[in-house]
Amino acid sequence: MRLLIIGSGGREHALAWKLAQSHQVSEIHMAPGNGATAGGNWSKPILNVPVAVDDIPGLIKHIQAAGIDFVVPGPELALVSGITDACAAIGVPCFGPDTLCARLEGSKIFAKEIMAESGVPTADYAVFSDHAAATAYVKAKNGPIVIKADGLAAGKGVVVAANAAEALEALDAMLLQKNIGEAASRVLLEETLNGEEVSLLAFCDGECAVPLPSAQDHKRVFDNDAGPNTGGMGAYSPAPLLPAEQGREICDLVITPILRTMKAKGHPFKGMLYAGLMFTPQGIKVLEYNTRFGDPECQPLLMRLDSDLLEIMQACVAGRLDEIQICYRPESAVCVVVSAEGYPGSYAKGMEISGLEDAEAAKNVAPGEIKVFQAGTKLENGKLLSSGGRVLGVTALGAGLREARDRAYAAIEKINMAKAHYRHDIGDKGLARS
Ligand code: AMP
Ligand code: GLY
Repeated sequence: MRLLIIGSGGREHALAWKLAQSHQVSEIHMAPGNGATAGGNWSKPILNVPVAVDDIPGLIKHIQAAGIDFVVPGPELALVSGITDACAAIGVPCFGPDTLCARLEGSKIFAKEIMAESGVPTADYAVFSDHAAATAYVKAKNGPIVIKADGLAAGKGVVVAANAAEALEALDAMLLQKNIGEAASRVLLEETLNGEEVSLLAFCDGECAVPLPSAQDHKRVFDNDAGPNTGGMGAYSPAPLLPAEQGREICDLVITPILRTMKAKGHPFKGMLYAGLMFTPQGIKVLEYNTRFGDPECQPLLMRLDSDLLEIMQACVAGRLDEIQICYRPESAVCVVVSAEGYPGSYAKGMEISGLEDAEAAKNVAPGEIKVFQAGTKLENGKLLSSGGRVLGVTALGAGLREARDRAYAAIEKINMAKAHYRHDIGDKGLARS
């Protein structure tokens, strides 16, 4: 079976690595892929195809020309742009929600409406498109408030304002200066919640949802959650905040009701539904939905997955998730993201990267238990160069969270890259709790 994986990040490298292990897979195409998928040591033929993730006609053309049998979109942009519907139109199965279901991630207002309809707990909010009205609301509240652009904004669409002055600044930027464009033609002003965050992802087949083990992301760029938000600087699984025995219960609170609502609308949700949760003193609340694997949560989760990922994805698409068993390794996994210094602001590219093979081999660690997933990399004249903000996701399994973390950090020590940055506290919150 020939697969097409859409995307170029650490998540997509991890998806390719895991899917290559499936006995059904004969060949993997990546659109557009990265330095890891451009060559190297793969058990199956792998090929980068220069098509952008939101170029739906281009992707469909490739799917037809290359005889692709199954499509796995990584990023939200491919889903929101309609890849699943386009694949359905040509009869090729695609592991992802249809375009309407993808609006759960593509429009924060749509997500709030569906949450309200489904009875899912979330923060109170109000919607504005008019700058004057939004300003008046912020001034009347006169305290901490969260400003969210309705549409996709590549991580730049949420401002957690400590006070009215910060909130007004964010409103000016989004509604007047249009710094993130159309994504902020409407904004939500949301009550500020307090608490620790955790990610709960679930495989969904339209009706049935099967939660993955919990994971915790680290969104801020610096240690101790300081600095600006990023795509994610590291993740680990399981998160002691959400023990395995509670996964089903929380899934029935925040995922299953959404599946019921979408099915009733004639759009059964198939694929991955990811709830960003906050454990507040008032109980669990949903901060956001993503309609795909999280990046970097995907990397530790797939290191722990002990079943055939393609079989699970096929069961989701076919609506028979209840017929299969999904197993996970009992170990913990930690992924530490190595970024270019300056990310998520401006940063240098083209830094040479070496030491990856060394990093993956460690004394007393079984082969395959340390993996360096590549994100913003490219292969040029045999050299591996950085080409993006998040460059590597150094991921390790360990008997517990501490061992997994120590292995990941020891692996990082063996990697050479100028102007590299990473957080030193990935997993610390989990260690403090366990
Ligand atoms: P989102 O993309 O909606 O998950 O928001 C990005 C980040 O902003 C979250 O991971 C939280 O850290 C923070 N955030 C979002 N909504 C709220 C809220 N209502 N209260 C406090 N923090 C929030
Ligand atoms: N790590 C958060 C996300 O993928 O959106």
